[in-house]
This record gives sequence, C-alpha cells and structure tokens, in this order.
Amino acid sequence: MSSEFSVRLMVAEDLDAVMSVEKDSFCTPWSRSSFEEELAKNRLARYIVALDGSEVVGYAGTWLVINEAHVTNVAVRGSRRRQGIGRLLMETLMVLARHEGMDSMTLEVRVANQAARRLYQQLGFVEAGLRKDYYSETKEDALILWREKL
Ligand SMILES: CC(C)(COP(=O)(O)OP(=O)(O)OC[C@H]1O[C@@H](n2cnc3c(N)ncnc32)[C@H](O)[C@@H]1OP(=O)(O)O)[C@@H](O)C(=O)NCCC(=O)NCCS
Repeated sequence: MSSEFSVRLMVAEDLDAVMSVEKDSFCTPWSRSSFEEELAKNRLARYIVALDGSEVVGYAGTWLVINEAHVTNVAVRGSRRRQGIGRLLMETLMVLARHEGMDSMTLEVRVANQAARRLYQQLGFVEAGLRKDYYSETKEDALILWREKL
C-alpha cells in the first residue's frame, strides 16, 4: 500500500540516495551534477522524493513549460518496486503540476518498458506518437504519451 510512504520536494542532501537509485534504474544514468543543476538553477524544474521513514526509495521530476508538465524522470529503487511507490510519485507530480497551473502532462517511454507503460496507462496517459531511435545508446524507439486535463 502506498500510504506507508511519504513524499516531499527533493533537496541537495538527497542526492547520494537519488544517485544510487538512478544508477540502479537506467543504463545511461544522469550525472550528479545534472541533478545539482536542476535543483539549484532550473526554475522550471520540480523534483520530489518518496520516503520510507527517512530512506529515499524513489524520485520523480518534471519541467513546468507554459501550461504543460514534461516529466524528466521517475524511478524506484529496484528492491522496492511493485509497492505502489511509482504510482504515488506520479500522482503527486500530477497534483503538483495542476496546482502550478499546468493543463496537461507528457513524457517519453521506451517501447519495451512494459512496467512504466502500464503505470502511465493506469494514470490516463495515452499514446500520441513515436520518436524513432530516441534512445541513441540502444537505438530504441520512444513512445510519446500525454495526459490531458490534469
Ligand atoms: C516504472 C517504475 C517507476 C514503476 O515503479 P513501481 O513503484 O514499481 O510501480 P508501482 O508499484 O506503483 O506500480 C504501479 C503499476 O505499474 C504497473 N507495473 C509496475 N511494475 C510492473 C511490472 N514489473 N510489470 C508489469 N506492470 C508493472 C502495474 O500496472 C502496477 O499496478 P499494480 O501493481 O496494481 O498491478 C519502476 O519499475 C522503475 O523505477 N523502473 C526503472 C526506471 C524506469 O523505467 N522509469 C521510467 C522511465 S519512462
């Protein structure tokens, strides 16, 4: 059940844990300095972490672009998946974006990433296009998903 977890805005002190989840989750992880710049300098960016007690178990981020929220990343620690944390993070990001005046939310997902695709489908995201070879390191295509009427 997701109710045992809490969510708050990400701060620089979270980055050791965030980087460990990031490396655990993506074949081309973001660098620590990318996260540092996002937190310190990108006024459009909002990042949140999911906590079990004081332990960071996942995170997600979005850019607020005019009236559209563009999701940059969502990841849950490998050992903590399938406990509702990904859904909690996405639902929180959607509420946050709506409160900040966004009308819709968009993201890209690997065609082969069934876990993420099911999560987004449950949250009302629909396919709006395909970017060929979007993930250059593996030449995988990306589906573009949109959730209208946040
Ligand atoms: C995608 C990800 C964030 C999901 O996080 P999670 O905490 O495991 O997701 P949840 O437990 O909230 O699951 C929500 C729903 O997503 C779907 N889902 C999640 N993992 C799944 C899996 N392995 N297989 C099939 N469906 C899955 C299910 O529909 C699930 O609902 P259910 O448990 O009621 O069936 C997680 O798998 C992850 O970090 N993956 C690596 C990073 C990644 O791919 N990020 C997305 C990039 S676009």
